[in-house]
Amino acid sequence: MNIDWKNLPFGYMPTDYNVRCYFRNGQWGELEITSDEYIPVHMAATGLHYGQESFEGMKAYMGKDGKIRLFRWQENARRMQRSATGIKLAVVPEELFHRAITTAVRLNKRFIPPYGTGAALYIRPLLFGTGAEVGVKPAREYLFLVFVTPVGPYFKEGFKPVEMLVCHDFDRAAPLGTGHIKVGGNYAASLVSLEKGHEKGYASVIYLDAMEKKYIDECGPANFFGIKGNTYITPDSHTILPSITNMSLQELALHLGMKVEKRPVPLEEIGEFDEVGACGTAAVITSIRRIVDEQNGKSYEYCRDGNPGPISVKLYQKLTAIQYGDEPDPFGWIEIVD
Ligand SMILES: Cc1ncc(COP(=O)(O)O)c(C=O)c1O
Repeated sequence: MNIDWKNLPFGYMPTDYNVRCYFRNGQWGELEITSDEYIPVHMAATGLHYGQESFEGMKAYMGKDGKIRLFRWQENARRMQRSATGIKLAVVPEELFHRAITTAVRLNKRFIPPYGTGAALYIRPLLFGTGAEVGVKPAREYLFLVFVTPVGPYFKEGFKPVEMLVCHDFDRAAPLGTGHIKVGGNYAASLVSLEKGHEKGYASVIYLDAMEKKYIDECGPANFFGIKGNTYITPDSHTILPSITNMSLQELALHLGMKVEKRPVPLEEIGEFDEVGACGTAAVITSIRRIVDEQNGKSYEYCRDGNPGPISVKLYQKLTAIQYGDEPDPFGWIEIVD
């Protein structure tokens, strides 16, 4: 196997196996292991027509000690349960979720990037309605599938600060809609605006609250945070996906003696932050050096020396050290996969 671990993109690469489990007649069946990358799907499946689909994203990390670590998988399992409840999918029990991800990781061990490469094994649980329906209603059959693929960091620039564009003309989620759960429709709704941002040279776009367009929601597929003095500030909004990375950074910030504020963050406040960043599983922290608000003719600069701010660096280092097992985990976030 000839993989250039240090230059992996954040993309799909085939691995040896994926695992699947069907929900039929009101219950989950046996976990199946397959090498097939394709799924036979009925043409009237609700996942295809009505967006009855949810997914998760998490990683397995190879430590210096040769041990494989999972990070807070229970939070992903619970988030998928909330997604399932939110769009009427069959709910995957935590035990099945755990068995599926650990089986997929163990069977594809040779694809876990070596320690020190900055890469990791991305785990993608997927759940969707496979049952055929023509009217708009939940399916009676579901597939829960887990595949894995080795990935490098999501933002190609890595920890190099990036530029982001405030998005005024699109919403990824409606005020009482599905922004708080991880369902495909939210991502479909974000594609045009993200692409527009990319075409203009921005790493991502910053969505505002859909109701008033006054508050910051999130940064494409990542949460937003700002640092002001000794305080970590992150938006509180129903249309934001609760990021497990963000939750962890908040706990780390408290642990490091900082204050944490989770509250609505008005767009006008972005000029007051010392550091700003996006956070998520894919890149952990993406430091932002410039936010451009074309509509209001404003531009905000951070990282004036070209480097990420010191608090972002400290939080990033602390979190990745726990994930790769370089530092002890006082929070009980890590599970070793034997
Ligand atoms: C819309 C959105 N926000 C935030 C995140 C970051 O969440 P997490 O830290 O759990 O990866 C993701 C990625 O899952 C996302 O898709």
